[in-house]
Amino acid sequence: MVIYFSGTGNSRYVANMINSAIGGDDEIVALNDLIKTGLGKPLVSEKPFVFVTPTYGWRIPRLVSKFIRETDFGGNNKAYFVMTCGDGTGNAAAYVKELCAERGLVFMGLASVVMPENYIAMFAVPDKAQAEAIIEKAEPGMRSIAEYIKNGQQLPTETVTLAGRFLSSVVNPIFYRFFISAKGFYVTEKCVACGKCVRLCPLNNIQLLEGKPEWGGECTHCMACICGCPEEAIEYKNKSKGKPRYYLG
Ligand SMILES: Cc1cc2nc3c(=O)[nH]c(=O)nc-3n(C[C@H](O)[C@H](O)[C@H](O)COP(=O)(O)O)c2cc1C
Ligand code: SF4
Ligand code: SF4
Repeated sequence: MVIYFSGTGNSRYVANMINSAIGGDDEIVALNDLIKTGLGKPLVSEKPFVFVTPTYGWRIPRLVSKFIRETDFGGNNKAYFVMTCGDGTGNAAAYVKELCAERGLVFMGLASVVMPENYIAMFAVPDKAQAEAIIEKAEPGMRSIAEYIKNGQQLPTETVTLAGRFLSSVVNPIFYRFFISAKGFYVTEKCVACGKCVRLCPLNNIQLLEGKPEWGGECTHCMACICGCPEEAIEYKNKSKGKPRYYLG
């Protein structure tokens, strides 16, 4: 079973690609939908579980680790992890390995896939042509990961630098504490009240009030709302103005 979480489409794309490369007959589950419809049901799979997620602060997103911690997995007990990232995953594998041990899952390795950066609230994001080139470059890596999974092999261990260890251990909690907040989003006059941002938010954090989106306090900074708005009507603090939006539809 392939289970993915995705804010702006990269991890969904990689999950679909891996799923079809390993046979295509496996079940594919969007954590985004599970969160919206209610968590808590056990997940059972004859084949290994393959978790595909973005990288948030050099680790898997906290909402994904919470989901793994609180869900019962039955059938196969092997777990592969594929993390899409804009640059690197630091020492994420160590934390995921611990989580697997805690949940009785056999850790089958973690592979990083560099995809277009989506963190418009902090960094520059690529334009369409640059994004296409990055995805094209990532394709052989995705196919190779799928091959390992198909053959039931452990994924090769990735090199972790000292800086990577520091980012995943020390910077991750600081990053969550000071940067992940819904407070900076606002809407401009370009909004046409289509409601797409409401539908895209995996945490049901957006409501349309008198035709305009309003953000609540539950936000994981996935960037789906700001990048998925068809009118580019959403901005974040003074960070996003004039930047291209990145959303892989
Ligand atoms: C909140 C947040 C934190 C991020 N942190 C990292 C990071 O630590 N390292 C990295 O390389 N990319 C980071 N990124 C970039 C994303 O991991 C990357 O673009 C990913 O492919 C997005 O996947 P998605 O489109 O499935 O949401 C971050 C993005 C967001 C929104
Ligand atoms: S997606 Fe954009 S245009 Fe549609 S309601 Fe949300 S902010 Fe407005
Ligand atoms: S409010 Fe926007 S950034 Fe925050 S979780 Fe919802 S869609 Fe993602």
